[in-house]
Amino acid sequence: MNVVTAIGEARDRIRAARAEGKRIGFVPTMGYLHRGHLELVEISKRHSEYQVMSIFVNRIQFNDPKDFSSYPKDLQRDLDLARAAGVDLVFTPDEGEMYRNNLTTVDVSLLTDHLCGASRPGHFKGVFTVVSKLFNIIQPDVSIFGQKDIQQAVSIEKMVFDLNFPVKMIIAPTVREQDGLAMSSRNKHLDAEKRRNSVCIYRSLKRAEELLVSGETDSGRIRSAMEKTVLEGSPDRIDYISIVDYASLQPVERVSGKSVIAVAVFFGSTRLIDNMIIEFEGGGIKCVY
Ligand code: PAF
Repeated sequence: MNVVTAIGEARDRIRAARAEGKRIGFVPTMGYLHRGHLELVEISKRHSEYQVMSIFVNRIQFNDPKDFSSYPKDLQRDLDLARAAGVDLVFTPDEGEMYRNNLTTVDVSLLTDHLCGASRPGHFKGVFTVVSKLFNIIQPDVSIFGQKDIQQAVSIEKMVFDLNFPVKMIIAPTVREQDGLAMSSRNKHLDAEKRRNSVCIYRSLKRAEELLVSGETDSGRIRSAMEKTVLEGSPDRIDYISIVDYASLQPVERVSGKSVIAVAVFFGSTRLIDNMIIEFEGGGIKCVY
């Protein structure tokens, strides 16, 4: 596995792999890897022959400087995990390499005014800017994003379409701890009690599934039942429980077409998110967590 910090060197290595006829798979990360990231690499391997991972904690997507400075980091551990997962190239630039005199930003309007976009101003602009830059540097054939960050994934799908990036996007189902908590680098900030209680988020999605399967489609009623379940875990604050249309990410009053139920909850200062995609299939309902 090669580890490079310079854009030019990353490009040279990727060009060489492409010249050997290999398709380039790309998993962008901010490091502190967990099983969820490694699963994205596994999926990437099914679609490409040369695996690139970026590890870059992107300051401009943090609306809270404290959140940026406390973001967990362990590059050596990340490199060991990436190597074991079969990554061929890790691109881990510093801030100067990525943002020297950068004046250009990328935004996707409408899709980011609700959900996490409402409580994290500027966050998505930072994500789209860095992902556009990474796509231009790596020029992957395929790139894999986790469903856990559904607003990010759906908006990047739209950005790829709107800006004609020649990248196939794959959204991979969320990888979970045994009790159902979605894996996240932020879980490490939870103390034992908050960690135990945080399973209420997953339970609230399960509750929503039960209601949907029993024929309930009223968003208000589903959200109230979910809120009750989340409160059983004594969170410090519910940021949102929302039901939105999958493509527009705008709230819906009734669940009818492909939709997303998304939840964001604070345990202490740790903000945890999770979601479920709902699809109507052959007269039934399919919920993907
Ligand atoms: O999902 C993440 O880890 C980040 O938002 C990403 C896509 C690597 C951009 O910094």
